[in-house]
Amino acid sequence: MAHDPHRPVALIVLAAGAGTRMNSDLPKPLHPIGGAPMIAHALATGRALEPSRIVVVTGHGAEEVEAALEEIAPEAVCVRQEEQLGTGHAVLQAAPALEGFQGDAVVLYADTPFVSEDTLRRMQAARAVHDMVVLGFRAADPGRYGRLMMEGERLVRIVEAKDATPEQLGIDLCNSGLLATDARLLMDLLGQVDTDNAAGEYYLTDLAEIAASRDLSATAVLCSEAETLGVNSRAELAAAEAQFQAMKRAEVLENGVTMTAPETVILSADTWVGRDAVIEPYVVFGPGVTVESGATIRAFSHLEDAHVSAGAIVGPYARLRPGAEIGNNAHIGNFVEVKASLIGEGTKVNHLTYIGNAEIGDGTNVGAGTITCNYDGVFKHRTVVGKNAFIGSDTMLVAPVTVGDNAMTGSGSVITSDVPEGALALGRAKQVNKAGLAVRLMDRLRAIKAEKAKG
Ligand code: UD1
Ligand code: MG
Repeated sequence: MAHDPHRPVALIVLAAGAGTRMNSDLPKPLHPIGGAPMIAHALATGRALEPSRIVVVTGHGAEEVEAALEEIAPEAVCVRQEEQLGTGHAVLQAAPALEGFQGDAVVLYADTPFVSEDTLRRMQAARAVHDMVVLGFRAADPGRYGRLMMEGERLVRIVEAKDATPEQLGIDLCNSGLLATDARLLMDLLGQVDTDNAAGEYYLTDLAEIAASRDLSATAVLCSEAETLGVNSRAELAAAEAQFQAMKRAEVLENGVTMTAPETVILSADTWVGRDAVIEPYVVFGPGVTVESGATIRAFSHLEDAHVSAGAIVGPYARLRPGAEIGNNAHIGNFVEVKASLIGEGTKVNHLTYIGNAEIGDGTNVGAGTITCNYDGVFKHRTVVGKNAFIGSDTMLVAPVTVGDNAMTGSGSVITSDVPEGALALGRAKQVNKAGLAVRLMDRLRAIKAEKAKG
């Protein structure tokens, strides 16, 4: 019953478990690693096999998980496992969704995010020779993992830790839970699984023994323990995040990016940084950030759903919020926040400024302390500033408002109406000087203080 490794593939992703040890209201598959839900990592790897069907088995928090899947994997079919009666029972729930499917089924766990594409391909390759392929690993501390019992390269049985003899517990070859076999055979074999075990559950792992009893050949493909890291608690989630960060930093460095202290930089699964960009220490990339070649992100900046073009400099201490689009060679300096705004080519916004719902043209200088007053308490309004304009320090741009090309605003201006091209707008009280008044005022105050001290 060996098969062509290129036959169609269906993924079955188990995501119904309670995740009790997470101690969380959020279903475990949705806890983020690298800013993306855990289940998205398993799906991303599984997609490398170009599956023709994806079935996700949901249960605990099913509604939330299914809603998230509409974004993450709209092509996936969700099936509900109403009661969590074990991994074997969970896989069986996928049967109706695989009606008429001819090909291989690959079982993945939503809470095992780091299995590599290469490992899945090696499992597929082993399917050319064996009826069933289980993914195993040598565990430093086998603990509660199921143990793989091999006879040469044949897998004859998987013993769950709960059911194992002390001698079997001595085996360090463990079950990751991932499995590949013919989809129909899988459902057929599952029909034979019962609950006669220490947990009283339908074990998916019983398939090894059932296959052996039917003279089918099962084997194990091995991967590193790091790949099979499962997440069951917050501590394991933190360990998974650390492992993800280490992998992603290595990938970014590999792509020709300079990071002076990579261990301090936090990346997201979808962070993309171009060649010869420089990332200084303590930069946080939330989801959805792309940084083009040659840009510099200086220390202590926080970016989320933003794009930084070639040659731009962002930070130190800058915040780019969703929809920030920074043009070529633009400068965004310290304590500047940009949200849903376009910053033109070569434009400088260097100090203590908030730019929201705005479009700032090329070559414009925005002075320190400028604020786009974009929110009236109910609606957001737009600010448009033209090319080569000069916004004086501490200008309040009360949106909706437009400042034309080559226009200027005086420092401290509150700009409530449009400024025509080339005009200078002064929106502040006129200054008055009172001769000698400062000295007279101070003398009077000091005299009052002296009176009080006497008593
Ligand atoms: C399982 C394996 C064990 C393996 C270990 C690797 C079995 C019987 N045991 O044990 O050999 O070493 O994984 O981590 O398969 N799930 C459901 N529905 C259920 C039960 C589980 O969807 O009714 C899902 C969980 O959400 C999880 C996965 O299946 O994603 C594994 O379940 P879990 O209870 O963690 O299995 P383990 O006891 O860890
Ligand atoms: Mg587990």
